[in-house]
Amino acid sequence: MKTTVAQLNQHIGETIELEGWLIKKRSSGKIAFLQVRDGSGEVQAVASRAELDDASWAAVESLTQESTLRLGGAVRADDRAPSGVEIHLATCELLDQSPEFPISPKEHGVSFLAENRHLWLRSRRQRAALRVRSEVCQAIRDFFYERDFVLIDSPILTPAACEGTSTLFETDYFGNPAYLSQSGQLYLEPAAAAFGKVYCFGPTFRAEKSKTRRHLMEFWMVEPEVAFLEFGGLCELAEEFVVSLIGRVLDRCGAELDVLERDRTVLEASVAPFPRLTYSQAIEQLQAAGVEIEWGADFGAEEETLLASQHGKPVLVTHFPAAIKAFYMEPDPDDPKQVLGVDVLAPEGYGEIIGGSQRIHDHDLLLRRIREHELPLEAFEWYLDIRKYGTFPHSGFGMGIERFVAWVTGLPHLRETIPYPRMLNKIYP
Ligand code: 4AD
Ligand code: MG
Repeated sequence: MKTTVAQLNQHIGETIELEGWLIKKRSSGKIAFLQVRDGSGEVQAVASRAELDDASWAAVESLTQESTLRLGGAVRADDRAPSGVEIHLATCELLDQSPEFPISPKEHGVSFLAENRHLWLRSRRQRAALRVRSEVCQAIRDFFYERDFVLIDSPILTPAACEGTSTLFETDYFGNPAYLSQSGQLYLEPAAAAFGKVYCFGPTFRAEKSKTRRHLMEFWMVEPEVAFLEFGGLCELAEEFVVSLIGRVLDRCGAELDVLERDRTVLEASVAPFPRLTYSQAIEQLQAAGVEIEWGADFGAEEETLLASQHGKPVLVTHFPAAIKAFYMEPDPDDPKQVLGVDVLAPEGYGEIIGGSQRIHDHDLLLRRIREHELPLEAFEWYLDIRKYGTFPHSGFGMGIERFVAWVTGLPHLRETIPYPRMLNKIYP
């Protein structure tokens, strides 16, 4: 019966058939140990010269790393094997013999691996990281589905900037400029007036001119937006969301975290409530720690690392100076120099994983902000309409999932958390 590695433990004692790739082979001439991967998992097959017909043994002998094969044999329980089973080989068929595979078990440089991303995906650590990503994406969809949010797919081609004009990717749209979306937020706000609770989850684009381990040019962002949700509720939603995703990864991705040798201590400690501090308090803490920073300055990677590392769990920083945040953020009623914005900073040096705010819902104030930020009014008329026809307080946030996945997996660089990273000046493969 044809099956997969993941299903093998349901076939102990039976004879099965599998298709996959050879990871590695050890052979003594009379007996060969094949490590086989089929996408669902890895298993060892033991081949004995005495028990195979000539064609099968010839196939075993000609297997090279990444050759494709079809094997048949009996499934035996084996406590020492990570999969819990081993295959006693009865037949082996070489489907395609791979020439020398560029990625061997020896160490390779990062740029070599990046250029071979299409092949690097097969490596154990890469598979573990991308499985965690897949689980996180599913957990995100489940989180919002269970809370009755409606999925609203925001457009990729847009006529206006959401997060500042310095990181726009411009393209030609029938003779007019269009930009790849930096965020779906502006399109979610009108949808919140139609459905109450909405979210979008898709690729976003930023022409970040700097090369850091925390920035991609193309990344996936999940963004909820909720009508009549004010700032306090927004902070609670962000906290609940992060706690829920961590729980899901701890629950379902144990094997992957083992492969990645992820120390779970901080993840397990990341339960609610998360510490909260205002931007002003954060500045005081930083100054007390000897950092040269004045009120009004934006945080860099160093400041974020310092702020979050003191607590051993994510931290919510709120009430930022209006001048360093986006045009749409609602002013703090107690101090209009500040806005009702929140950043969630992950510990262990991963920095900002979430950015969000309450939105300006007063028409005239929003109009003034658009002008102050010198944004082209024509492109925002429709956005102002939301404040014209039955305006309502509302709030939302965005989480870059690569930042979250990098943190939960403990991977130092975002490039391993997305199948095909887009980085500064690099778009191959
Ligand atoms: O803080 P940002 O810029 O917020 C927004 O775009 C809002 N419009 C979201 C909203 O309120 N609906 O970006 C949100 C998150 C960041 O916290 C970070 O996790 C991620 O997006 N992010 C990036 N991730 C990878 N590479 C980049 N270049 C990123 N820029 C932002
Ligand atoms: Mg931000």
